[in-house]
Amino acid sequence: MDKKKLYIQTFGCQMNVQDSQKMAALLKESGYGTTEDPREADLILVNTCSIREKAAQKICSQLGRFRDLKEENPHLLIGAVGCLAQQWGARFFKRIPHLDLVVGTHQIHRLPEMVADLEQKGGQAVETGRCESVRSLEIVAQPPEGAVSTFVTIMQGCINRCAYCVVPFLRGPEESRPLDEILREVRMLAAEGIREVTLLGQNVNSYGQANGGGHDFADLLAAIGKVEGIERIRFTTSHPKDLSPRLIDSFGKVAPLCEHIHLPIQSGSDRVLALMNRGYRAEEYLAKVAALRASCPDIAITSDVIVGFPGEREEDFQATLALMRQVRFDNLFSFQYSEREGTAAAGMADPVPEAVKRERLVILQSLQMEHTGERNRARIGRTEGVLVEGPSKNGPQDMTGRTRANRIVNFPGAAGLIGQVVQVRITEAFLHSLRGEVEGRGEGDVH
Ligand code: 5AD
Ligand code: SF4
Repeated sequence: MDKKKLYIQTFGCQMNVQDSQKMAALLKESGYGTTEDPREADLILVNTCSIREKAAQKICSQLGRFRDLKEENPHLLIGAVGCLAQQWGARFFKRIPHLDLVVGTHQIHRLPEMVADLEQKGGQAVETGRCESVRSLEIVAQPPEGAVSTFVTIMQGCINRCAYCVVPFLRGPEESRPLDEILREVRMLAAEGIREVTLLGQNVNSYGQANGGGHDFADLLAAIGKVEGIERIRFTTSHPKDLSPRLIDSFGKVAPLCEHIHLPIQSGSDRVLALMNRGYRAEEYLAKVAALRASCPDIAITSDVIVGFPGEREEDFQATLALMRQVRFDNLFSFQYSEREGTAAAGMADPVPEAVKRERLVILQSLQMEHTGERNRARIGRTEGVLVEGPSKNGPQDMTGRTRANRIVNFPGAAGLIGQVVQVRITEAFLHSLRGEVEGRGEGDVH
């Protein structure tokens, strides 16, 4: 019998990438194999994001394009899943009338049953209810064939109330997975050949504070650090206000923990940070950066910044640039503020004109390019451990992988190296990657 085919397109964060893998695993049990080609699909799922207006627009135009496929194949089912689905619920059908299915962030586990119902009875189905305990946290995602690195969700939801952010409304309150359950999953992944895990949560620093069974994030890192076969551990995302001294200490102590932290600052102005309800001042952020560098001198620090938050004046923006010059981030993700329905910042006084936001973003990004270039060039002549992930985009003669500080490195090498850590001497630096030559095997001395 022909297998039914599932095509999933994912927007948004790594948590969504992980959720898409969970959906694929669930639907496999209902006879759906995945396809890379939407024209072959019997079921198309778009895993949606609502973080900025741009994401919502892109998702709607993508769903709009799938209408033609539905005209060619009336049995095709199309669903919107995840954050924007949670936010819009049945309103999604008004925007996209050819949609069959809308499933929110807490209802992923119901997908097989809902799809089976639609297959039999047709119509439109929507489920955006909240669950006390998010069932999808227990679903084990199957990493793609041959993957060396994968994600592990350790918690979801968020209890912070950053004024700009829609996530707490969509993902619900914080919920941590029990440490034993996470360890079981990591051991299983290691046995399947995974060498690197990235621990995911909206705010991993507060792991365990809500139902973690008495363990905090530093305990979890220490436990995963002992799992045989796991050579590298990463995590994302951290809230600066919850970055504890114990966690800072872990960088020197837990050998597989990679020397990289993503620590979103959002603004360098205390006035804007207060308006954003971030719970720290720029000075406190800088003190945490200094503590991280004292514990781990070569740590790479990356961050997120929003420009044009309501009320942001020129001097606030200048304070952000000054902080960037002080920290010299290894990399920075920067965004124009986008108003989101239901958030505290929606309708705040003194909105910043679009043109000003755009101009600030350009200035900020060109400063960051200087810093990224400078940090990347500083690696030239050094030898770094690179976990080989697969062939490089440059062509079959090159392999690609990442350093512990999360820099992409391309180098001449054969496919037999995939899954291994090799020592690469860095010879060239670009903005988005490094180039080098293999010198040996193994993680070697860390920095
Ligand atoms: N507008 C612009 N950027 C946002 N982010 C979150 N919400 C918004 C918003 N409303 C950014 C923050 C966050 C990153 C994931 O997205 O910088 O850290
Ligand atoms: Fe987008 Fe945030 Fe939802 Fe991730 S959690 S998909 S970034 S809205």
